[in-house]
Amino acid sequence: MPVLVVVFGRFCSLTGHCILDWVTNWTPNHGQNYDPVPYRPARIPAEQALETSASLRARMDERRTVRAFSTDPVPEQLVLDAIAVASTAPSGAHQQPWTFVLVTDPDVRKQIREAAEEEERISYAGRLGEEWLDALRPLGTDDVKPHITDSPYLIVVFQQRFYIEPDGSTRKHYYVDESVGIAVGMLLTALHLSGLAALTHTPSPMRFLGEVLNRPRNERAFAVIPVGYPAEDCSVPNLTRKSLDQVMVRV
Ligand SMILES: Cc1cc2nc3c(=O)[nH]c(=O)nc-3n(C[C@H](O)[C@H](O)[C@H](O)COP(=O)(O)O)c2cc1C
Repeated sequence: MPVLVVVFGRFCSLTGHCILDWVTNWTPNHGQNYDPVPYRPARIPAEQALETSASLRARMDERRTVRAFSTDPVPEQLVLDAIAVASTAPSGAHQQPWTFVLVTDPDVRKQIREAAEEEERISYAGRLGEEWLDALRPLGTDDVKPHITDSPYLIVVFQQRFYIEPDGSTRKHYYVDESVGIAVGMLLTALHLSGLAALTHTPSPMRFLGEVLNRPRNERAFAVIPVGYPAEDCSVPNLTRKSLDQVMVRV
């Protein structure tokens, strides 16, 4: 398949749409009939499951958003595996409307940083408004975004707002925001459980990302996610999380 993708990618259809777009945006089961297959995962004994869930809860509570990264190299496979985990996420009508762009080219990263910082300068100078700036104050963030160029990896996540047929016509994608949000949650979880740190960065507006990364017209940037180990002198805001009682109600 990768060979096919590379070969197809060199040709464009008569409609002017790159065949590569079709291959990468293809919705695998669209239009097929219902075809059930057995699903019999081994049941985990309750005692073992409770041990696992308690340790997972503690481990996930250690996750923090990191804004200062070490330049220590990260095994690329950890990042590839995390993206593959993200792509197992449930999605509306199983359309998997996401693209993860792994950006390692230093020149491209520099372009992204410059464009992001330009937007952030305007945002922090007043575009966000007082209420938003109040909400951000405890985080200590500003318009300088060194992590875009300095973290070992940068993943830019795009939503595929719709699907482009080979003839250029389009098909709706359903629940795109929800699906991509869940996938990104799984990405962050996988990265954390592999010992890596990440930042969910949403420079607003994000249109420049599609231009710099040359994404097709059906894609809209969702988040910029630098990945790596925390810097040795990394610190994070002193935040408190809501308790289970505060986020859950029983009916
Ligand atoms: C949708 C979303 C957008 C975010 N955008 C930014 C951002 O643009 N810049 C930033 O520094 N952090 C951003 N964050 C990170 C949050 O500030 C962070 O998750 C929050 O403060 C809680 O901290 P924690 O992740 O360490 O628990 C974003 C997080 C989410 C989920």
